Amino acid sequence: MSGSTMQWWRDAVIYQVYPRSFADGNGDGVGDVAGIRARLGHLRDLGVDAIWMSPWYPSPMADAGYDVSDFRDIDPAFGTLAEAEALIAEAHEIGIRIIIDVVPNHVSSEHPWFRAALAGGPERDYFWFRKSQNMPTNWVGEFGGTTWTKVDDDTWYLHLFTPEQPDLNWEHPDVRAEFESILRFWFDRGADGIRIDSAALLFKDTALPEVTDGEPHPFHDLDAVHDVYRSWRRIADEYADRALIGEVWMPDVERFTNYLRPDELHAAFNFDLLGCAWDPYKMRSSIERTLESHAHIGAPPTWVLSNHDVTRHVTRYGRADTTFSFDNNLDGTPVDLELGTRRARAAALLTLSLPGAAYIYQGEELGLWENETIPEDQFQDPMYARRGHSRDGCRVPLPWSGDEPPYGFSAVENPADPWLPQPAEWKDRTVQTQTGDPNSMLELYRSAIRLRDFTGQELTWLEEEAELLAFTRGTGFACVLNLSETPVPLPEHRTLLLASSPLDGALLPRDTAVWLRL
Ligand code: GLC
Repeated sequence: MSGSTMQWWRDAVIYQVYPRSFADGNGDGVGDVAGIRARLGHLRDLGVDAIWMSPWYPSPMADAGYDVSDFRDIDPAFGTLAEAEALIAEAHEIGIRIIIDVVPNHVSSEHPWFRAALAGGPERDYFWFRKSQNMPTNWVGEFGGTTWTKVDDDTWYLHLFTPEQPDLNWEHPDVRAEFESILRFWFDRGADGIRIDSAALLFKDTALPEVTDGEPHPFHDLDAVHDVYRSWRRIADEYADRALIGEVWMPDVERFTNYLRPDELHAAFNFDLLGCAWDPYKMRSSIERTLESHAHIGAPPTWVLSNHDVTRHVTRYGRADTTFSFDNNLDGTPVDLELGTRRARAAALLTLSLPGAAYIYQGEELGLWENETIPEDQFQDPMYARRGHSRDGCRVPLPWSGDEPPYGFSAVENPADPWLPQPAEWKDRTVQTQTGDPNSMLELYRSAIRLRDFTGQELTWLEEEAELLAFTRGTGFACVLNLSETPVPLPEHRTLLLASSPLDGALLPRDTAVWLRL
């Protein structure tokens, strides 16, 4: 755990729970709040400071819960609001904060507002309905494909994701008021933070121009969005210690850090390193770019290796092409899982010792890889039909114990099959098998999080040698990651605190990181 409680989001370790796949309390093969409550001990033992809960609201699940039909309740598949409140209280009792996922760009097509809009009510103004003979624009959606669906003769509505996720019209004051009230609803119930889904998309150019190179983008990152986050910040500030964390995919560093101005969001996910190749020069420049841009604005950097949208990093780092981008589909290309695991272990020590907050996606602490063996007819992700890539492979239920599926995922006898199949090899990756094994990924994460206490300790690069990522935090600690082809000597130190892989005598092998006490 990190020491500070004031401004906890600045250096917290935040664990992403994907409720469908964390733990299943009622045996229906789908994770739920009861399962999370029963397994909170795992998160306490891991030592995390906070949990970010992917959406748990009532939803037709057209996009796995990112199509919300009621922001003030819990989907029956996951439990009840009372159970969610109990979970928040129980997490607080063991010192774990809770971050709720809010999805402001769109709602479900089953949301009462959209149903009323379809019935011709004034709620139409809450969305983007346009009369036109042809599709109003040729915009390509975030999952690929078109962004307009026809409802009757010549009326269309806008959806940047699936047709089941109509976009809200943020020009409308009722939309703003509704989300301010939703924030208060969850802050009043003890939520310590809000993760803001697709945070840069909310506003659209009302003239609906086509996307043209060199022209401002009609629906990415319009300036008006900052005004919304300023008003959200005022609300968060009325409560103590609440954080707003934006999901902002944006290559332009300056535009990205605009979201982190002192009167806007507290933090935003940094996906730069996540997309970066396993390459010393590129990684170092990504880290430096992140540190400099955040220092400039006074905001804490964040470090993310995986989440519910991207290929798990054990798999990414085991491929010949170690980059990630939604436009470059590498599914099914050869993977060396041993190499990927070795690098993932080193990446954990790197990201857990850089300045800022670290995000852990559930299962990364178990060294899980992307399940690339899910039969196509079991895919549930709507992205698959539009982009030919399914995110289901990173969303597979966690293995907890035992030798065969569902590996303790479901807490009852004779449960239904998990909603996505688990690989046979995961019998070696369960929490149970890894606990107490000093060489396991789980014990590496537990030790690193326990040792991690860098509050206020400046980063200084140690080595000019480009193929080593080596830095100190304060005067007493160093992290060294060898990304060169050959083993290298360690800098002078008093104690070896942690090593991601065994040393080669006194030398640090390739793709290995160590934490040193100086
Ligand atoms: C975000 C979520 C993703 C979802 C999309 C639409 O990118 O992380 O899972 O599909 O928004 O809400």
